[in-house]
Amino acid sequence: MYDSVDLIKQTKVYIHNQFSSDTTGHDFYHIQRVVDLAKQIAQEEKADLFLVELAAWLHDVGDYKLHEGKDRSAELIQKYLSESNLDENLTNKIVQIVSEVSFSKGKTPSSQEARIVQDADRLDAIGAIGIARAFTYGGSQQRQIWDPENSSETTIQHFHDKLLKLRERMSTQTAKKIAQQRHQFLEEFLENFHKEWGEHF
Ligand code: ADP
Ligand code: NI
Repeated sequence: MYDSVDLIKQTKVYIHNQFSSDTTGHDFYHIQRVVDLAKQIAQEEKADLFLVELAAWLHDVGDYKLHEGKDRSAELIQKYLSESNLDENLTNKIVQIVSEVSFSKGKTPSSQEARIVQDADRLDAIGAIGIARAFTYGGSQQRQIWDPENSSETTIQHFHDKLLKLRERMSTQTAKKIAQQRHQFLEEFLENFHKEWGEHF
């Protein structure tokens, strides 16, 4: 048998060991912030706090971006949770939630818990921290800041392709509220960025 408080504590250590030295914007503190946001949303939305918190801690484990383009999340989470003696039913739920979180996989979550972790992950991609993460991830992928002649592979283009759309794609009311200010800050940032560059936004 497992103890839920112990399992969460142990999972935090497991994640810290794996992610503390990440420099692509998916570091331990990204995951810690997603956990905090997900718990806040779960409380407001009256969701299962244990499932939400555990899935939030594990949401970037095995992500394809950190494993040479291969998604190993189901395999690694199964292994970790079965070694931690979590029962099969809960393990499968966590694997399912995590598989539905990623924006790039384009899935529509089938449970309230997955919607909450996805919203929390998306909130950490916007606002001041979202801006910092985008340039860090962009740099790690050899992307330029901006190129008006060839915008497609730049980090500023990523704001238009993805980040500015996230506010509309929040599922929960709580996340929609938190997203307002963060979205506005992205708009202000882009306006100033293009103004300083000498462009119209
Ligand atoms: P997920 O991990 O939910 O699939 P992403 O990998 O798309 O989401 O995004 C994770 C982080 O990396 C976010 O902060 C996002 O802004 C950033 N990111 C993803 N793709 C790019 C890109 N092409 N340029 C800059 N930042 C990116
Ligand atoms: Ni994430």
